Amino acid sequence: MTVRPILTFPNNLLRKRAIPVKNIDDEVKGLIKDMRDTLLEASGIGLAANQIGVLKRIVVLNIPDQVEMSVFINPEILHKSGRREVSEGCLSFPGYSGIVNRSVSVTVRHIDEAGGKIKITAEQLLSQALEHEIDHLNGILFIDHLKEHEMLSLSVPDYRPHSHDLNVSVDVTEEGKGSEFNEKLYTKIKVEDLKEALSRAHILKEAE
Ligand code: NI
Repeated sequence: MTVRPILTFPNNLLRKRAIPVKNIDDEVKGLIKDMRDTLLEASGIGLAANQIGVLKRIVVLNIPDQVEMSVFINPEILHKSGRREVSEGCLSFPGYSGIVNRSVSVTVRHIDEAGGKIKITAEQLLSQALEHEIDHLNGILFIDHLKEHEMLSLSVPDYRPHSHDLNVSVDVTEEGKGSEFNEKLYTKIKVEDLKEALSRAHILKEAE
């Protein structure tokens, strides 16, 4: 089991575009294994390879209530529909969440670990997670989608979705071990840097 450290904002690898995978060779398979181990350790919903410093177009998702983690190689959004507001967090922003706009459903084409070409239409958390993670592969972060006048807030254990969330109630920060993040995956300095960077970007709410 290899858990890799997760990069936090403002690491510049998070702003780079990842490169398509050409062959699912041993190196790619090893990377996918490490991504699964890291996502599990982090109790996260999704992880893009950039977040552990590898610029390859690979995403691993662990959606609650699904039996297995899913792997998306070279995922591409073919179609989006609808729009909703959701609360969202990210493993590269441990402890923070904000309100963003996401699609109601997305159709995604990708390659699975066995090399099979797959096309799926996703809704709810799966749709949100796919948009979030495919953004990562393009150097886009969820803070880029923060609603106007919305800022990031420090997640607290009893955090509940924002009152103006729509019917689909999705709260990434409440899954697994509550809103606590696994400090083992981050150095203290990186987490301090994150706070500093967020306040400099003027997207941090004052702690209530
Ligand atoms: Ni993320």
